[in-house]
Amino acid sequence: MLILTYNIIIIKNIEKRYIDIKTPIYNKLKELSQHQVVDFQFPGHRKRTFDGLDYNLLPMFDTTETFGTDNLHSPEGIIEESMEEIARVYGVKHSLYVVNGSTGALHIALMSATNPGDRILIQRNSHIGVYNGAILSGLDVEYLMPYYDQENQVVGDLKKEEVLKVLSENEDVKAIVLLHPSFYGICGNLKEIIDICHERNIIVIVDEAHGPHMYFNDRLPKSACELGADLIIHSSHKTLPAMTQTALLHVNSDRVDIDDVRLMSRMLQTTSPSYIFMTNTELAVNFTDSENGRKRLSDICEAIDELEEKLSNVKGIHVLSRKQDELFYSRDFTKLMIEIEGIKGARLRNILHEDYSIDMEYADLRHVIGIVTLMNTREDIVKLYEAILDINENYEKIKIHEFENPLIRPDVVMSISKAFYANSEILKLEDAVGRISASYINPYPPGIPQLAPGERITKEHLDLVKELSEVGISIVGLKGKDKNLIKVVVEE
Ligand SMILES: Cc1ncc(COP(=O)(O)O)c(C=O)c1O
Repeated sequence: MLILTYNIIIIKNIEKRYIDIKTPIYNKLKELSQHQVVDFQFPGHRKRTFDGLDYNLLPMFDTTETFGTDNLHSPEGIIEESMEEIARVYGVKHSLYVVNGSTGALHIALMSATNPGDRILIQRNSHIGVYNGAILSGLDVEYLMPYYDQENQVVGDLKKEEVLKVLSENEDVKAIVLLHPSFYGICGNLKEIIDICHERNIIVIVDEAHGPHMYFNDRLPKSACELGADLIIHSSHKTLPAMTQTALLHVNSDRVDIDDVRLMSRMLQTTSPSYIFMTNTELAVNFTDSENGRKRLSDICEAIDELEEKLSNVKGIHVLSRKQDELFYSRDFTKLMIEIEGIKGARLRNILHEDYSIDMEYADLRHVIGIVTLMNTREDIVKLYEAILDINENYEKIKIHEFENPLIRPDVVMSISKAFYANSEILKLEDAVGRISASYINPYPPGIPQLAPGERITKEHLDLVKELSEVGISIVGLKGKDKNLIKVVVEE
């Protein structure tokens, strides 16, 4: 009798351990995978395979440091050899695999190029990863404002005059972080700015997250690897056929010690870096560099030419030109930027998704932006062309006012890292005007902060948040259910 009771208790305990959990991620992804879409969104592989990549083998490739493999954090074998091959392709001194995206690569770059308390310059339309890297590194930051191209209603490039002005006001600059290309494909005259910085012995870090493909086609702007930057960051998952999270950090001078870069790479990344990511990046670079890969890139550039040519003759449609002489800056035209007069960008992106199964990466107040990679086909571009014509003819239009420069000039009153760690309180955004922010206002995508810690909050921020909320662009950094609260510094 006693034994029987004991058994029942054990059985009950075992039963309690089985919980039939739901699998919402798997279910959704499976459902989505049934839908055919024309894809101009990250990741760059477009869910298509290429010569040399057999997805069926991936489970076999998920390995670790074991017999015959190597260790990313102390590479001596196949990983070392593979990274040397990548460096050979890009013509740089060293390339490192990074398994935490360009975000991770930016943090490694900033932490290896600077010491806490150093002052750096950041191009203001940089990604949040740069700002967070500055906080993690304990840096003081001054910002460089790109100019605004009012005619095309887009944030343009960074001019050398702005760099010279900010440098004349800040003598003790250790490093500079430049963006090349921007989300809109804008590149500018990077070489000129690199030279100005190197004359002053300033380390040049270039966030080329959106540009690892540019090296492989002569019609695209030159890569920062060719232009002499010291540290270059590439998101292989964005424009090469590689998986999300894959990235490269290139070291191209002796201004930063490669051993410091390796040290930071060890400190900031998992001790179990994914072999799937590393081999996938290796294959993606190998394929893009191959005759077939280069031909695909060149063909898709021609398809973009044809699209632009045809759309530029249609009333009401604007495409940001690929023709460099029509712009004041060089541009990576694989970032397709289309506007239909009278239809806001976010609405156009929704229409394309809902009614045409075409997914664009991003929309701002006026444009949609699609990322074209060598894994897109001419048919993808034709479908987009037909959809844009159809929408232009058949959808309701409204009057849209001209936008002013959407990039707010920051009023920096405290170091970004000090403000981030300062005593703080939470206020309604409307009550926080005039206070120092301890947080971000960061519209996402593209993840470019409009307000960072240490900056004075102004009425402009209130207006911007209102405008972005109205068109459904999400804002990271604000708190509360209604996203109307912000963390501010308590001033002593
Ligand atoms: C300009 C820029 N840099 C860096 C990043 C971060 O890249 P990742 O997603 O590879 O971490 C992004 C992400 O969108 C970006 O737009």
